[in-house]
Amino acid sequence: MIYLDNNASTPVDPEVADAVHSALRLSYGNPSSAHAIGLRAKAAVEKARAEVAECIGASPEEIFFTSGGTESNNLAILGTALQKGKGHVITSVIEHPSVMNPCRYLEKNGFDVSYVAVDGEGRIAADDVRKAIKRETILITIMHANNETGVLQPVEEIGTLARERYILFHTDAAQSVGKIPADVEKLRADILTIVPHKFYGPKGVGALSVRKGVQLKPILFGAGHEKGLRPGTENVPGIVGMGKTCEMTRLFLRERATHVKKLTDMLFTGIRERLQDVRINGHQTLRLPNTLNICIPGVDSTDLLEKIKDEVAATAGSACHSGQKTPSAVLMAMGMSEADAMSSIRLSTGKDNTEEEIRAAVEIIAKAAQGRRR
Ligand SMILES: Cc1ncc(COP(=O)(O)O)c(C=O)c1O
Repeated sequence: MIYLDNNASTPVDPEVADAVHSALRLSYGNPSSAHAIGLRAKAAVEKARAEVAECIGASPEEIFFTSGGTESNNLAILGTALQKGKGHVITSVIEHPSVMNPCRYLEKNGFDVSYVAVDGEGRIAADDVRKAIKRETILITIMHANNETGVLQPVEEIGTLARERYILFHTDAAQSVGKIPADVEKLRADILTIVPHKFYGPKGVGALSVRKGVQLKPILFGAGHEKGLRPGTENVPGIVGMGKTCEMTRLFLRERATHVKKLTDMLFTGIRERLQDVRINGHQTLRLPNTLNICIPGVDSTDLLEKIKDEVAATAGSACHSGQKTPSAVLMAMGMSEADAMSSIRLSTGKDNTEEEIRAAVEIIAKAAQGRRR
């Protein structure tokens, strides 16, 4: 089985798995308990907090642990809305559902929301964001890298214009942290979402980086954990695993990025040599190094992936809901035809893939596609 679905989730780094395992066995105390066993768990959480902070150029006091990307995005958006009470939010048409749906919820509950479009290469124009700003704008939330196309957004520019106008800027960096440098200061992000299972860490844990001085209201109510912003006994093994994941990223990011870029390029070149009219969806260069979203005209992507599902793991540019196939909203927002969106697949490489696997995947995909041209 060749795993080319690393944007969905990644295999856990063995060193991370070891760290989670020893936290499960040794740091079992409640970090809020004042005795030595509790203090040991608390120390493990704080060590992880420092690692997460360092990985994105934040300070440890700015890191708040959550249950993952979905919760972090909800906390960023709804927490800002609850703090401000009313106002206008700017987002884009290509955000992950965990950003899109809280925005839609706000819209139904008295907030005004603008959805900025993308161009044919899947990019948001910072100027469109600037034009969408109103006197009432309280938050801009734009992702760093798109999960389907890997296309990078002009986050620094958007963050700069938000800061000039004293508007909070949140970026969903679920797909970028661990794959490319993502520094909160360079990105001008007041609030940033981090998701370790996208870069060889555990699922069910994540964090929100919140710049000092930025006030958010909690969206869950309970005891006073995470300085009152996120109640609930900490997921100590998950948090320890996340810390280790960030430490490994700090050490190996460059090496991993070079490796996956080489494999991703090999994948495209190989598939194009065999199937000629294959096209990359999205910007050719302003992309994550591991992500390749391609259109194979005439091929039904869900049929193709069904055919190869025991040999290659990948994702289609369409979703299947109750027997009905729908094209990807992200690809459609880029102006692609429904037929081309339905003929698109996402291949996302990871640090554990080898050149040999890529050569084999090219053969498998090309062979299946040749037999499946409509
Ligand atoms: C861009 C983006 N944001 C947020 C998430 C949500 O992360 P999780 O499913 O871990 O809550 C994902 C995961 O697919 C993602 O790709």
